[in-house]
Amino acid sequence: MILVTGGAGFIGANFVLDWLANSDEPVLNLDKLTYAGNRNNLASVDGDARHVFVQGDIGDTALVERLLAEHKPRAVVNFAAESHVDRSIHGPEDFIQTNVVGTFRLLQAVRQYWQALCAIEKEAFRFLHVSTDEVYGTLAPDAPAFTETHTTEPNSPYSASKAASDHLVRAWHHTFGLPVLTTNCSNNYGPYHFPEKLIPLMIVNALAGKSLPVYGDGMQVRDWLYVADHCSAIRRVLEAGKPGETYNVGGWNEMPNIDIVHTVCRLLDELRPRADGKPYAEQISYVQDRPGHDRRYAIDARKIERELGWKPAETFESGIRKTVQWYLEHAGWVADVQTGAYRDWVQTQYAADAVAASA
Ligand code: NAD
Ligand code: DAU
Repeated sequence: MILVTGGAGFIGANFVLDWLANSDEPVLNLDKLTYAGNRNNLASVDGDARHVFVQGDIGDTALVERLLAEHKPRAVVNFAAESHVDRSIHGPEDFIQTNVVGTFRLLQAVRQYWQALCAIEKEAFRFLHVSTDEVYGTLAPDAPAFTETHTTEPNSPYSASKAASDHLVRAWHHTFGLPVLTTNCSNNYGPYHFPEKLIPLMIVNALAGKSLPVYGDGMQVRDWLYVADHCSAIRRVLEAGKPGETYNVGGWNEMPNIDIVHTVCRLLDELRPRADGKPYAEQISYVQDRPGHDRRYAIDARKIERELGWKPAETFESGIRKTVQWYLEHAGWVADVQTGAYRDWVQTQYAADAVAASA
């Protein structure tokens, strides 16, 4: 089996669902269920014996050691992180705790487990660390896209904490020989995306008649990748990536934020027109910029294509249409997130555990 951390979050849950749809190999899913972790994302695999969910922290060494010893995974895929740049500006502590200290403790526990494996299992074992293009910093408008050898110049507490974790992963390979792989991916979008991030926020705010807050002049550029393509890239790197290497993952799809927002508005105009017949774009409002806001990210994804034959399957046009449709068809999921009902799982689960323990 494989151990996935952070598998109740946006990308992790998509990865777990995708994995179980494509393979019979079981998944042990370790997730702390912070505000970003949502068991509803995994509802379709409830009761599936191939999916074992454990609520817990990657920084809980005793728990991780026990899970490794019990389940003997052949690989670890580390998604667990604090992931939202704006939250990292308001409160960086959790980012250091999970992204830096948590990754460090996970690496230590995995190293100890890996060292005790027999030679064949040791050779085949992989630790895949899921990282971001933000570690590279920001680009001038005409600068070439980030390659894997670009300098690391993180600018936000979030990207600094991810860069620190990337460095730890690299060092655990270089010094201890742990067979690690790192992926640095651009902005994902798709189903189960928490509506604090740009695309889902714009969809749910538009439908609720709220304003669509665009930071600064809206001309910051991001590269956007449909989440299923990120999942297929991770599967491919896990399968064929060379230990110690990093692979950039991107969609060859740079767009300014304001164009993203207009695209979402246009799709909603078509698929769920406003009752008053006016365009959703009327709800756009320019607001104060994010402090230290990186102006442009762009990913050069030629290495993963050349060496591992991976390319995105989805265009932005097809991916964003699917995404808007998904949100329109999953109003219940959105409502649970907005009311906080999605967090009831934790309470229900602990109540059930307590009943079971007292029986
Ligand atoms: P997310 O915030 O939606 O999910 C993170 C998950 O990790 C949640 O389920 C949360 O409960 C869990 N978690 C947090 N702290 C934990 C801890 N200490 N122990 C165990 N679980 C913990 O994030 P996401 O957008 O799905 O991102 C997943 C990973 O991919 C992150 O490492 C992020 O840096 C990286 N990434 C994200 C994007 C993107 O566009 N979202 C792009 C590139 C890379
Ligand atoms: O590049 C990969 C990164 O993409 C990941 O590592 C992060 O985990 C992920 O959150 C994402 O970071 P961003 O900061 O790029 O994503 P976010 O959706 O928060 O913002 C996208 C852009 O839109 C960014 O330039 C800020 C802007 N924005 C965002 C929000 C939430 C707005 O203009 N208005 C908003 O309300």
